[in-house]
Amino acid sequence: MAATTSSLRRLALLAIIGFFITVFFLVQKPYDGVSGSSWSQDAQSEDESSREKTPLNPDHIVPFVPETYGPPKDEILKPATTLLTSVKLAKPTNIPSHSPVTADVSTTAPSEPPAQTWSWEYTQGVIKSWVKTWPVPAIEGHWPPYEDYRDEDYDPNLWEGFLWNNEIYINSGIRLLVSDGEAELSKVEPYMPYPAYNTESWQRQWRGTYTSCEGPRGKLLNASDEDIIKAYPALPTGFPSAAIGYTNLTGFSVDAHCFDRHHRYGPYGFGQGEREDAEDWQEPTVRPDWTSVNWQKLQDKCLMKNKDRYKPKARQPPVLKPGKDLPSKLSSAPPVPQLRSPDYHSRTAILVRAWEGLPFGEDELQNMRALITELSLHSGGEFQVFILYHIEDENMDIWKNQELYKDSLHDLPRELQSISILWNSKLCHEWYPKIGDCNNFWHPYIPLQWFSLTHPEFDFVWNWEADVRYTGNYYELLDGVASFARNSSRKYMWERNQRFYVPSAHGSYEDFLNSTYEAADRATEEGEKSPWGKNAWNDKAQRPIGPTPPRSIDEDDFEWGVGEDADLITFQPIWDPREVDWTFKEKIWNFLPGFRPTFTEEDPMAANFRHSDFGKIPRRTTIGSHLRLSARQLYAMHLENLAGRTMAAEMWPATVALHHGLKAVYAPHPVWTDRVWPAWYLDAVLNANRGEDARWGQKDDSIWVHDRSHNLAGTSWFVEADFPKTLYRRWLGLRRIDGSPLAEIDGKQWEDEGMTIDLPVGENGGEQEVRVGGHGRMCLPPMLLHLVKDVYDEAIPQQVSMPPPPPAEEAEEEGAEPIPFPNERGRI
Ligand SMILES: *[C@@H]1O[C@H](CO)[C@@H](O)[C@H](O)[C@H]1NC(C)=O
Ligand SMILES: *[C@@H]1O[C@H](CO)[C@@H](O)[C@H](O)[C@H]1NC(C)=O
Ligand SMILES: *[C@@H]1O[C@H](CO)[C@@H](O)[C@H](O)[C@H]1NC(C)=O
Ligand SMILES: *[C@@H]1O[C@H](CO)[C@@H](O)[C@H](O)[C@H]1NC(C)=O
Repeated sequence: MAATTSSLRRLALLAIIGFFITVFFLVQKPYDGVSGSSWSQDAQSEDESSREKTPLNPDHIVPFVPETYGPPKDEILKPATTLLTSVKLAKPTNIPSHSPVTADVSTTAPSEPPAQTWSWEYTQGVIKSWVKTWPVPAIEGHWPPYEDYRDEDYDPNLWEGFLWNNEIYINSGIRLLVSDGEAELSKVEPYMPYPAYNTESWQRQWRGTYTSCEGPRGKLLNASDEDIIKAYPALPTGFPSAAIGYTNLTGFSVDAHCFDRHHRYGPYGFGQGEREDAEDWQEPTVRPDWTSVNWQKLQDKCLMKNKDRYKPKARQPPVLKPGKDLPSKLSSAPPVPQLRSPDYHSRTAILVRAWEGLPFGEDELQNMRALITELSLHSGGEFQVFILYHIEDENMDIWKNQELYKDSLHDLPRELQSISILWNSKLCHEWYPKIGDCNNFWHPYIPLQWFSLTHPEFDFVWNWEADVRYTGNYYELLDGVASFARNSSRKYMWERNQRFYVPSAHGSYEDFLNSTYEAADRATEEGEKSPWGKNAWNDKAQRPIGPTPPRSIDEDDFEWGVGEDADLITFQPIWDPREVDWTFKEKIWNFLPGFRPTFTEEDPMAANFRHSDFGKIPRRTTIGSHLRLSARQLYAMHLENLAGRTMAAEMWPATVALHHGLKAVYAPHPVWTDRVWPAWYLDAVLNANRGEDARWGQKDDSIWVHDRSHNLAGTSWFVEADFPKTLYRRWLGLRRIDGSPLAEIDGKQWEDEGMTIDLPVGENGGEQEVRVGGHGRMCLPPMLLHLVKDVYDEAIPQQVSMPPPPPAEEAEEEGAEPIPFPNERGRI
């Protein structure tokens, strides 16, 4: 007995020591790893392993662990919503009566509330009553802490109590397409979303002749079906719609096809050499030895076969080691492309960011093969894919010493070495000494500037992260997004860029544009000035390179900018950070001459660096680093950096576009959610604006405030999202355990037989045992997924029992029937 007690004590002591060591580690870490941002670029991904353990937001002493937005991993077994189901839902408090709509809503208790007609105050009242009634899970270690919001008028965790979007998994098997009754739907076909090359209408638009290129199987791609991904010509009935974004963004409908893992990745080695045959899939007969495929050679040969389609200066294979000398001829901005027909096609470089220690597993390699084949080889060289490989040691002379260069290159998988370009921060020190520091965490776009200025043959550059996946064809996505951005007007583009499109709340995309523009009109009448053309902060210091508007904004009927290629394309909204509690908004270098943050070991994030004049500097932010930048955009960023001016990475490209009068477009690609959100609530949270016209995301209630951004953790596209990891692994037939009723689905058993499970049914709640799954491999629409990593099969952990949830507070009953909080017991 005594022995047990003392060993328990020893354990407790060890635990305490461990805790202090951990805290010490957490406090120390941000400086070495400089992976401090909750949201930043590759610095954040550059040190993924430490990121998991580091306080991501340096402002928090409490570690912010993005992985655990649900219950902590080892306690997950009885997930949050299961807890909810066992709680008797308390009666919500009454709804505020200052809104004229109250009476209406309360008497009818509508199943789909007519949210568009709600006043802002009324909406806030309902949200507040939900905050009070939601039975907060009794789980510690969650960020943001569950218990912190009881007395607030919002709760960034509330969505975790909504119904799970189980239909994504239940209504997505390939066998469902056959049982839908039409045999044609089960017929998988090659998926080729490319222009009708060499046709008459194509030739009216483009110069030169498209010539088919050789693929990794050594055959011309027009004669090798095995190099082409295939799709089913429908989406299974009942697959949920995207919650956010424009399903026709690319010009191809998202609902018309679906992709399963074998037909999407089969051409790139998925299932290669597997013993068992996969249902309804033919393994390619030509099985390349992938390690010996020379992707650079294939891409260069492809370009040369198609070279008459491109500008004379783009008719040479790109140089992989351009050196770090500033090109001497650089004196003016890249010319603004003039629309001509027929014209030379533009060339776009995809720069996939990599660094020492970034793991490249089989899944990463298949994704790289997809990027190269779909974007570059099938298009005859419109794109070219590279790895931009960061060497951390800035003193390593990779610039002159060929041996060192070679040695470093050899740390990458052999298959990728031929397309890799090495760089280190020596570049920044030599090109931009006036900035004052050269940390890639703050300045991740400098190597893109270097690439662009030394490769004028490329009109555009995509900054691309290795942890993104697309279930469809990459060309369809990137060519479509470019076309969407080209078609967008400049009038009210900054307002449009701030707002999420929520189809269930806003109606058609045209309705969305209409209501966005009307709000912008009202804001203008209230005295707000919509940016139009150049907006230099300091006319003397900055020389904006963008075009002068052809007419005033009032005279423009959404014409200016239509047909003009965008200088900046983002996959998340672009918003004004000045009134938002967002961590890095004060990180501004040398806009006030000589005033810049200094980072020291004691103060690694320059936490108190600010200036009262910063509020006057117009700026814009976008979270996430998947951006397309034009040569003109990168040139403007180069000019600013030469003068020493820069800002935190999230603010920098969009702010330069704003100051220089360049065209910036947020591309509202379709995004799914892992919970079923009421339309009005999704709109209210994503487009929070303190009730002010056209100020979406830029007030103190912005979705981009550090705790509120947790609302995006259950979406398929967010740097801290968890959902994509689950979805992607299950699509690959692997298990990933989340907190949903379908937590434990895995490949084989789920796909072949299915399982019996308790699911909510009907309008009024209640659960029923339902047989789900057994419909074959998951088949998904084209989805852009971020963040995807750790692609492996997860084991089912040992069951542990959870403490019972706390009794929900009894709310007093008063007045009208309130809008019930939707949970697993019932939908509203
Ligand atoms: C494939 O493309 C090549 C080069 O453009 C062409 O010569 C050949 O006829 C094409 N083959 C098929 C089957 O279309
Ligand atoms: C999407 O595009 C298709 C085909 O062009 C069109 O029929 C459909 O109406 C579009 N949908 C929306 C929501 O715009
Ligand atoms: C852009 O406009 C052109 C010309 O009207 C049209 O053909 C194309 O489909 C549009 N692209 C997108 C993505 O809507
Ligand atoms: C929005 O639609 C209404 C009704 O069709 C129309 O009168 C109005 O001009 C539109 N507003 C804008 C800004 O397009």
